[in-house]
Amino acid sequence: MLFSPFTAKSLTLKNRIVMPPMCTYSAGRDGLANDWHYIHYATRAVGGVGLIIQEATGVEDGGRITARDLGLWHDGQLEPLARIVAAVRQYGAKIAIQLNHAGRKSEVEYLEPVAPSPIPFSDKYRTPHELTAAAIAAIVGRFAAAARRAAAVGYDAVEIHAAHGYLISQFLSPLSNKRDDDYGGSPAGRARLLGEVVAAVRAAVPALPIIVRVSASDWEPGGNTPEAMAEMLNLVKGQGIDLLHVSSGAVTPAVPRAFPGYQIPFALTLKEKTGLPVIGGGLITDPIQAEQVVKTGVDLVFLGRELLRSPYWPRKAAFVLGEETDWPEPYLRGKFL
Ligand SMILES: Cc1cc2nc3c(=O)[nH]c(=O)nc-3n(C[C@H](O)[C@H](O)[C@H](O)COP(=O)(O)O)c2cc1C
Repeated sequence: MLFSPFTAKSLTLKNRIVMPPMCTYSAGRDGLANDWHYIHYATRAVGGVGLIIQEATGVEDGGRITARDLGLWHDGQLEPLARIVAAVRQYGAKIAIQLNHAGRKSEVEYLEPVAPSPIPFSDKYRTPHELTAAAIAAIVGRFAAAARRAAAVGYDAVEIHAAHGYLISQFLSPLSNKRDDDYGGSPAGRARLLGEVVAAVRAAVPALPIIVRVSASDWEPGGNTPEAMAEMLNLVKGQGIDLLHVSSGAVTPAVPRAFPGYQIPFALTLKEKTGLPVIGGGLITDPIQAEQVVKTGVDLVFLGRELLRSPYWPRKAAFVLGEETDWPEPYLRGKFL
């Protein structure tokens, strides 16, 4: 199962192994990709990953988590990203880009953080400015502009970051969204920004598959549950969501008791309640675990930190599971003992 192909819209993957977005905080203030990013992503493609989702990339400077995140807010940022996309393709993987606005979790110190409501993430963070409707519309436009640039670069898909307590996630959660206008107050209000971003991205890049990453649980009383998230997703999925990427937490500092596969029930619930294909994972390290995740009905499995430790993990997994896969010719001597 792990090594069977998968298709969503125009995205066809050779296997079910996903490298989820992981910030490497290795860009400069300019947000430009450099040799680090090129080697980092090309290596996972050579390693046999089916889909790489590039780390959170800011749709504006002040929407970055830190001033060392990648950015896609102007055309000068395209060229080094195009080099990465070409290499990943050449070595047999597909690549999506995660578009992000960090909202109240932005630590870019020369710009003011913004959020649905003026509540800081914790006492270590700044108090954000509450966004006006006009400022929200401008941010929606920046997601669309970044998606257009992503299509120009040649990415195979766009992922909208609506998880982990960043801006869209802040709107989705009743713990961080205390608004009483059209963007808060009810599930439909809290889901409005996500719906507008998906619609704007869909209009900007009609042919590209859209992945949405969500936190299916806030791990805190009064916060979102998988059922509440499914209800909101059902209100907006018609705007153009093709694939759901299911994570959890980081909306507040609450920490879950994590164990291998702890988020898999969330992925299965969201798949069942929305009818969308899902990417699931969390603390997966072992090929048999990964195979079992796919067997339970999760369409694609992500391995984050394991792929930081072992960029060639998919090759080892194929060996363990007795699967025949293509190897790059220069590595053929390493395929068998
Ligand atoms: C160093 C690091 C950076 C991360 N950055 C992002 C990110 O940019 N976007 C995102 O959605 N998740 C991010 N995550 C979360 C991972 O995508 C993944 O959900 C998490 O590591 C759990 O999966 P794992 O147990 O397989 O590592 C990051 C995780 C790590 C360890």
